Amino acid sequence: MASPAAGVVVIVGSGLIGRSWAMLFASGGFRVKLYDIEQQQVTNALENIRKEMTFLEQSGSLKGSLGAQDQLSLISGCLNIQEAVEGALHIQECVPENLELKKKIFAQLDQIIDDQVVLSSSTSCLLPSQLFAGLAHVQQCLVAHPVNPPYYVPLVELVPHPETAPATVDRTHALMRKIGQSPVRVLKEMDGFVLNRLQYAVISEAWRLVEEGIVSPSDLDLVMSDGLGMRYAFIGPLETMHLNAEGVLSYCDRYSEGMKRVLKTFGPIPEFSGATVEKVNQAMCLKVPADPEHLAARRRWRDECLQRLAKLKRQMPSQ
Ligand code: NAI
Repeated sequence: MASPAAGVVVIVGSGLIGRSWAMLFASGGFRVKLYDIEQQQVTNALENIRKEMTFLEQSGSLKGSLGAQDQLSLISGCLNIQEAVEGALHIQECVPENLELKKKIFAQLDQIIDDQVVLSSSTSCLLPSQLFAGLAHVQQCLVAHPVNPPYYVPLVELVPHPETAPATVDRTHALMRKIGQSPVRVLKEMDGFVLNRLQYAVISEAWRLVEEGIVSPSDLDLVMSDGLGMRYAFIGPLETMHLNAEGVLSYCDRYSEGMKRVLKTFGPIPEFSGATVEKVNQAMCLKVPADPEHLAARRRWRDECLQRLAKLKRQMPSQ
């Protein structure tokens, strides 16, 4: 576990993702300063984190080796950015997904940070070359994109700006490992990074299959949750190829013609509009009505499933 004396982590923006990061860094023993422009947001965040950590401790799912009380004592709210960043080793930006707002915040931070701290953005889809263009400390900047909910889904995509120093990526990679996350290096920036490109490929074909009347929306989802998704929680598509034949070479030998034949039948990019939206929406609302209460209840259920899956993954011996 990291010693609090090893440094301070600053979270800029105490919304949904900022709170999760705060909990993760505290679980690794880091001191966390949670900065926001809204006092109420910070107050709500600290209260929400306290409840969440107490619940996690009671259900045996609290991360890290410290108890909830000790982890909570590592997190403090802050409304002064200059004070917050003093002596920090890592700054994780978590403000709303708006390029101009993020650029403004990075320009402000660029003026007040030292040459050591890593400046990291949680952005889901803005490119590092847009976010960090022209910053004096660009070598210290990168994107560290988490997956919602980050406390249970450990993947973090690390995406450098073309001028990011390799040491910045290495340090962030090590830091993410220290707090129990699973970082991957995206070697060059690319729209959608990796996770969303895969996700959009799946959504795209799912949409076309429903649009063409090949399968119902609810059965389509079942193909993933009771089929592909079961194995993808443990092995990726490339290892799946390796295991589903006598290695990748044999898989390509056996199945490449079939894959190419099927892939040629994939249609154009869907419009995500018209009758298919109605059809998908109706099916989803039948299962989970789209009002705040039902959606929140279903998200809680999803998070509990993910929490148990995360536990199972930790318990499985790795080969
Ligand atoms: P949110 O809306 O829940 O929280 C944003 C917070 O930033 C609020 O507390 C707000 O008061 C604060 N804020 C606004 N302007 C500020 C400023 N100038 N200085 C400091 N704080 C400021 O947003 P959320 O969902 O937490 O998203 C944050 C980032 O994380 C976005 O870039 C988003 O794309 C990314 N992300 C979100 C995921 C999600 O599922 N919500 C998943 C992965 C990444």
